[in-house]
Amino acid sequence: MRDHGGQSTALFREKAPLAPKPWLDCSTSLNPCGHPPSLQGLTQHLPSLVTHYPDADADELRQHLAQVHGQSKEALFCGNGSTDCMVQSVRASGAICGVATAPHWSGYAEISAAARIPFRIGDIHTLQIGEIFFVATPNNPDGKCISPVEFQSIALAHSHSFFLIDLAFDDYLHAPQESPWWKGEWPQNAIRVKSLTKFFSMAGIRLGFVVMPQSLEDAPVAVTLANQCPCHLVWTALV
Ligand SMILES: Cc1ncc(COP(=O)(O)O)c(C=O)c1O
Repeated sequence: MRDHGGQSTALFREKAPLAPKPWLDCSTSLNPCGHPPSLQGLTQHLPSLVTHYPDADADELRQHLAQVHGQSKEALFCGNGSTDCMVQSVRASGAICGVATAPHWSGYAEISAAARIPFRIGDIHTLQIGEIFFVATPNNPDGKCISPVEFQSIALAHSHSFFLIDLAFDDYLHAPQESPWWKGEWPQNAIRVKSLTKFFSMAGIRLGFVVMPQSLEDAPVAVTLANQCPCHLVWTALV
């Protein structure tokens, strides 16, 4: 829990169930004259979006996404778009080099650079111990797909490397509740990331999440990821 602002209301509810409402958030020191009139429309629908620090744990949103995708909330972290999730996950994995097969989304090179590791183009047979392989399915730009069964056998055969499965376009093939990418047991070296900016056509509202394997759930960077969610109230309103 953070010391100053951004605590989830669920936590308040749990710690002080009998506290009279409305709760006053004393962390914000707001001007009593209020916000600019131009924000009125927004505050009418989402008052706390403007006046509160965002919930640093994205508690409600994580709960919702975890439920919809059949995952544990503890393993699911939200970020500012899947790009942010990927940078943080690559850091958390401790991978030494990013790898992707061409053609691939250009973001993987940038994500590797942001995570301060080199990036190279190569196919799966060239994957070395400690490297992280980016796989988008369907792939951008050619739409190529890999099946979860095929992927799992590859991941198990390279158990000393990492795999980042980019599901940015999976919604075009499967509803989240039915997607085979969210079913069953997953190899401990597989990180699943999903963008919500593509399918919902809202690239400007940065929203994505990552499901970390149990082996990386407690990695310090993954915890940092849980603390980065300035857009979370908009997201919560959308879901
Ligand atoms: C395959 C793929 N993954 C991820 C992203 C990034 O999405 P986000 O807006 O969630 O950061 C893109 C963006 O074009 C993409 O093409």
